[in-house]
Amino acid sequence: MTPLLDTRLGRALRTALAPAGSVAFTVLGDGRMEVVARSARGRAVGRIRVELSEGSARLSGLRVAALWRGRGIGRALLERACAEAAARGARVAALAVSARNGAARRLYADGGFAAREPARGEEWLRAL
Ligand SMILES: CC(C)(COP(=O)(O)OP(=O)(O)OC[C@H]1O[C@@H](n2cnc3c(N)ncnc32)[C@H](O)[C@@H]1OP(=O)(O)O)[C@@H](O)C(=O)NCCC(=O)NCCS
Repeated sequence: MTPLLDTRLGRALRTALAPAGSVAFTVLGDGRMEVVARSARGRAVGRIRVELSEGSARLSGLRVAALWRGRGIGRALLERACAEAAARGARVAALAVSARNGAARRLYADGGFAAREPARGEEWLRAL
């Protein structure tokens, strides 16, 4: 477990999880990692997977428990995943998002992701 970052995202998450919430980053091995957000009571309320390969990070499985949505947790998980990937040498982050998933697309667009050009399926990219 690490303390929350002192950023706008960190503040949003701290508000959501006060007084003792946290976002933990775990290396699972083989370039696979996971970021988990926990409530003040230690319950896992959101997560995202990160896979590093040849200078790029593939993000997948972002999910926040329904009752915990809209409090900045998804944004904080995304930012932490990108920061940890960048710290490990990744220069680009990639993820897939359905055209029907408006909430996720807004979150990713706010976070600096954009549809790959030329388009490749539903892949979005962000430089790290
Ligand atoms: C997408 C998801 C992870 C967002 O998590 P969250 O914790 O609710 O998101 P946040 O509170 O951090 O919101 C960040 C931004 O996302 C966007 N967003 C989140 N929920 C939204 C909604 N219901 N409608 C529109 N935009 C939404 C907004 O841009 C929001 O910023 P704002 O609050 O400043 O407007 C969550 O809704 C979820 O788990 N959905 C089901 C699984 C899923 O679709 N995962 C993505 C797979 S690609």
